[in-house]
Amino acid sequence: MRNTEQPKTYRVKSFGCQMNVYDGERMGELLSEQGITAAPEGEDADLVVLNTCHIREKAAEKVYSDIGRLTKGKTQKKAPMIAVAGCVAQAEGEEIMARSPSVSMVVGPQAYHRLPEMIAGAVSGKRMTDTDMPADAKFAALPQRKKSAPSAFLTIQEGCDKFCTYCVVPYTRGAEISRPYAALVDEAKMLVDGGAREITLLGQNVSAWSGEDDKGRAIGMAGLIRAIAAIPDVARIRYMTSHPADMDEDLISAHGEVSKLMPFLHLPVQSGNDRILKAMNRSHSAESYLKLLERFRAARPDLALSGDFIVGFPGETDAEFEDTLKIVDAVGYAQAYSFKYSPRPGTPAATMDDQVPMDVMDERLQRLQASLRRDQQAFNDASIGKTCEVLVERKGKLEGQWLGKSPWLQSVHFTADVAIGDVVKAELIQAGQNSLGARVLENVNA
Ligand code: 5AD
Ligand code: SF4
Repeated sequence: MRNTEQPKTYRVKSFGCQMNVYDGERMGELLSEQGITAAPEGEDADLVVLNTCHIREKAAEKVYSDIGRLTKGKTQKKAPMIAVAGCVAQAEGEEIMARSPSVSMVVGPQAYHRLPEMIAGAVSGKRMTDTDMPADAKFAALPQRKKSAPSAFLTIQEGCDKFCTYCVVPYTRGAEISRPYAALVDEAKMLVDGGAREITLLGQNVSAWSGEDDKGRAIGMAGLIRAIAAIPDVARIRYMTSHPADMDEDLISAHGEVSKLMPFLHLPVQSGNDRILKAMNRSHSAESYLKLLERFRAARPDLALSGDFIVGFPGETDAEFEDTLKIVDAVGYAQAYSFKYSPRPGTPAATMDDQVPMDVMDERLQRLQASLRRDQQAFNDASIGKTCEVLVERKGKLEGQWLGKSPWLQSVHFTADVAIGDVVKAELIQAGQNSLGARVLENVNA
């Protein structure tokens, strides 16, 4: 029932946020270094790593159904060795081991550098669990970065100390830790040497990053952004996700001064109602959030905004939900993510009174998403006629078509004689809700 053969090929299936995508890539690099190669698309893998997400409901159920499908030969002909990684592994490791005899390994987000030893144990028939959370041990133990896509992720910070009352992250990813400055600048250089042109600095709460530069001076996110911008082959820098409480003046100024820092800000607000924000323990009000955005827009007038929203937090009334629609109207987001509140075991909100019924949440989510769609279309429509740089990321579905991103993180498609990793100057000529058509004017690289 449990596959104990030494694996020759692997597949990592990542769910959830970009931090998991980053972790998944690094697990892949680690396995490759062990001589276990990525299974070609459509072919069976000897080892499957389910890199899971615990942020909203049914994530754990999804893991069990994936395990079932893998074990019963529905996903591939032969059942692989199975490792469960990520935040569900961290939160429910023991249960997974008890419920799923076909799982060989459970490995938390801070322990995956130990995968090679764990695989050796699994091959000898043992079941291996590692959900330790040592601060920053993982990164030093991972292999160097070699190849990269044009747009690469770089985790600079992990964990969260904010304890929003709905959120499981402080429990699954632990306390905030900042990776050291020198390690980050080195990794950014390795990524560009491997082909990256754009680097997205990642963290659950990136703007809480702090460190010391090479002269021993205390610096924050803005200092790190400036250091990475000084690497000649870096063309673009982005970062996500931030908390309104940690955005300082220096970071705001960086948006006005650092031309490589893209005019895009993902700044979750969650709700537009102050009573709900307080119950969420968000430490900002609707007004302080709007004031903060004004300061960013003063520094960078063409800034595109993105946010996260939760509808149906316990006790949210119709009138309180309307305040969320009002803040959406006030901001005019270029894009956004919106979710129905989902009680997470162990979080304070899960046991609050007045949980909102599902049908009410459904209706609120639909109304919110209609507003967000309207604003996204309006933002894209307003882009028509603009000339901007586009980073070419991959081939499109049509013959000769390429896909890339505008500075404002819009997907852009066009037909031209270019290569992946080129930066081209293009005129945006046509707008849909999720992407824009462009005409390439010039290849900036050529
Ligand atoms: N229910 C619904 N959405 C949640 N998020 C975090 N926790 C929950 C939850 N319990 C959303 C927040 C956060 C995003 C990553 O996921 O909007 O910003
Ligand atoms: Fe969760 Fe709040 Fe931390 Fe974001 S800031 S990870 S929502 S606790």
